[in-house]
Amino acid sequence: MTAINSIKARRVWDSRGKPTVEVDVTLENGILGRAIAPAGASRGTREAVDLRDGGKTLRGQNVQSALNSVNGPIAAALVGRDVNDQSGADHAILALDSSPLKDKLGGNATVATSLAVLHAAAASAGRPLWQHVAETTGCTPTLPLPEIQIFGGGAHAGRRVDIQDFMIMVPGAASFDEVMEITSEVYFAAGDIMKSKGKLAGVADEGGWWPNFDSNEEALETLMQAIEKAGEIPGERVVISLDIAASEFGSDGRYRLALEDRQMDSAEMIEMLGRWLETYPIASIEDPLAENDIDGTVEFTRRFGDQVQIIGDDYLVTNADLVRAAQDQGACNAVLIKVNQAGTVSESIDTFRAARSKGWGAIVSARSGETEDTSISHLATGLGGGQLKVGSFTRSERMIKWNECLRIQDALGRAAFVGGEPLASTWWGKKNQKDTAA
Ligand code: PGA
Ligand code: ZN
Repeated sequence: MTAINSIKARRVWDSRGKPTVEVDVTLENGILGRAIAPAGASRGTREAVDLRDGGKTLRGQNVQSALNSVNGPIAAALVGRDVNDQSGADHAILALDSSPLKDKLGGNATVATSLAVLHAAAASAGRPLWQHVAETTGCTPTLPLPEIQIFGGGAHAGRRVDIQDFMIMVPGAASFDEVMEITSEVYFAAGDIMKSKGKLAGVADEGGWWPNFDSNEEALETLMQAIEKAGEIPGERVVISLDIAASEFGSDGRYRLALEDRQMDSAEMIEMLGRWLETYPIASIEDPLAENDIDGTVEFTRRFGDQVQIIGDDYLVTNADLVRAAQDQGACNAVLIKVNQAGTVSESIDTFRAARSKGWGAIVSARSGETEDTSISHLATGLGGGQLKVGSFTRSERMIKWNECLRIQDALGRAAFVGGEPLASTWWGKKNQKDTAA
């Protein structure tokens, strides 16, 4: 037993210059664990909400109320507890706020505390966080397969285009390090193409190129050109991944692509995405339909679930019960894991396990508002078999997470890269099995 001695929250600032919550957990042996809450912009309606003060100061975004949650009731409930009992600490937090959205304490207060407890336990055991996570969950650590944004859109780019993330994955790379190298080539090739078309205009919230396009599909075509310009054949080592984030432009089976001034119902939306899946080497697609479009998501999964990874983000909000319900209904075949959507580490790991136990993919993910916190690089590695979504390939709040994986690679070895395994049941996995057999 190593007791928690003190818990203290302070206000720090995220990558969008907004205030957020940092928590220090100090143990009786003097060891410190520290974590910072991230913040989303395209949020699911059922995810844990951040407590913000409202009013005129800092555009209503101040977090004094969340700091008070940590320094008051949360600290009182956790001080004296064994830091090694993560589940006990998380349940003590939950006992203080049983509201489904954690709007009493604030998800920003709970997530920073829960992660700081995890960091303190790892440091106290003298282990890097990834190793502590692997040892305490019984998982085999692997370096995750990244999804990396080349163009940012949707809520992260003033809705310049409707689709939110145009990303690449490099399942054919031999190591995590090689993923970084190939991604860098594609990222800068995309920038060169934008420049040559007179369309270069900086970057979006997560560091991807600003999407100066006349249609959503132009972004896809430009991404194809960038992959080729980088010397790769699209669909071979490099594949495309999309986050449609459809809840941002649709609900109740009605969708509106503002850029193209086009209205669609669910069936038409499924047709359009189906045509993209046929035309482009897309191996993964997130939130293809709105979070309340259950019939549409089930139909999309029925039609395309055996060829592409279908991730629920806003649709599942890192909630184990929603994952189990979706598994029963046949909606999605993978889940995004955002610790601040759930609000605690234990709930996030439960969701990860619920997904993996039925052969689903699990993608540990950052938020669009991020910081220097690297917890997710360690979680994705320690839980194993996974994938990691962090945003693009610029800006230090993104790069620090990729770079942390490179440091972990030095400890685990290059062979610990999970490679294309998470995409085994997609067209890419099937094609590459055949290639190996031939
Ligand atoms: P958010 O978006 O962090 O702005 O909610 C990220 C995502 O949709 O994956
Ligand atoms: Zn998403």
